[in-house]
Amino acid sequence: MNALSKSCNPARGVWSARLFGSVVTLAAAISLFFAVPPAFAEAEIVAEWLDRNPPLDPNDPAWHKTKAVEVSLYPQRTVSPGSAAMDVARIAVRALYNGEAIALWLEWRDRAPADIVSVGRFADAVAVQWPVEYGPGRGLPYVGMGDPSRPVALWFWRADGKVETLAAAGFGSLTAQPSDGVEAKGVWEDGIWRVVFRRPLRALQGDEMVRFDPARQGLIPLALATWQGEAGQRDGDKRLSGWRALRFEGGKRETGEAELFGAAAPAEGNPEAGRKLMLERDCAGCHAFPGNPERPAAGPDLTYVGGIHNPSYLLESLLQPSQIIVPGKGFHEMEDGRRTSLMPPFEGSEQERRDITAFLGTLR
Ligand code: HEC
Repeated sequence: MNALSKSCNPARGVWSARLFGSVVTLAAAISLFFAVPPAFAEAEIVAEWLDRNPPLDPNDPAWHKTKAVEVSLYPQRTVSPGSAAMDVARIAVRALYNGEAIALWLEWRDRAPADIVSVGRFADAVAVQWPVEYGPGRGLPYVGMGDPSRPVALWFWRADGKVETLAAAGFGSLTAQPSDGVEAKGVWEDGIWRVVFRRPLRALQGDEMVRFDPARQGLIPLALATWQGEAGQRDGDKRLSGWRALRFEGGKRETGEAELFGAAAPAEGNPEAGRKLMLERDCAGCHAFPGNPERPAAGPDLTYVGGIHNPSYLLESLLQPSQIIVPGKGFHEMEDGRRTSLMPPFEGSEQERRDITAFLGTLR
């Protein structure tokens, strides 16, 4: 049984892979994107309680009783060299926990498994990214590997058997850490990878590790990335998701959760007006985006920006570009010892800003 081929059941938050094939469903989905703030168009992942240690074997029957949620993975285009991948992929996620450990079950399509690493050969891989510190008021780290003031912790599994605990504070700053106790097991079968990560709730060591405290947390944000080895994908050539919520079953709901995931600023704008504005204004001189005949690289490629970022982040990027600076090369300068974005703050009307944000939200 595989979660990706199950039919669409919006009530359960599982989206059908058949979406790609059906123009009618696709049109319906697009109109949905206009109405629903992007960050909440996709369901929460629920970590269900289990009366025993969550199984490491992806084929353990306990997993099949658990609800799977699909998460979209977008080709990384923000920093160069961007991914050559042309399509959005999906990954199905299940989660289980008990008083001792938490486990994540991940499933994605890959026709040919690549499990050997040698000169010029790369293996399939998957990573889970966690914020080390976050919360209402503090927000979330930059989704592409964190930022200097808000680091992220990562679990990495590669098809040749490598499992690693890593830390990062911006693109290109990835460093291996002593293991936090994470284990992983992957199985490829009939065109599908299934990988389980499991870790004790308490990290073995280290401040850079993710902390799990289901009783107090309620939820914890996570993001995912995959690499397709046979396509030569590695490092920044990957697909990644936006921040998603992993909610502990039975955990409390806290105020400020919606704000954390950027629902505070729903994009109530007109995307078509936003697209025209972006072509008329200087945005088109610095950013590549669908509909822009030029492909300038002075700023990040915005092709999938609505998939990986939430509306309030996008709105904020326009108003205060230096608030969160994309950690790529050549995107900022130093001014009085502070990093300053090379992007000029947007000086249009409130409505224009909303229209642009609405358009950016459709870029996914
Ligand atoms: C002079 C070049 C320049 C212009 C003009 C410009 N930008 Fe930017 N933009 C950048 C740079 C450089 C960054 C990356 C640094 C940062 O995060 O501020 C950026 C970042 C962004 C981001 C954040 C992307 C991410 O992945 O986090 C968005 C969204 C964005 N710009 C949209 C726009 C829009 C919309 C306009 C037009 C109203 C515009 N930009 C005009 C250079 C520019």
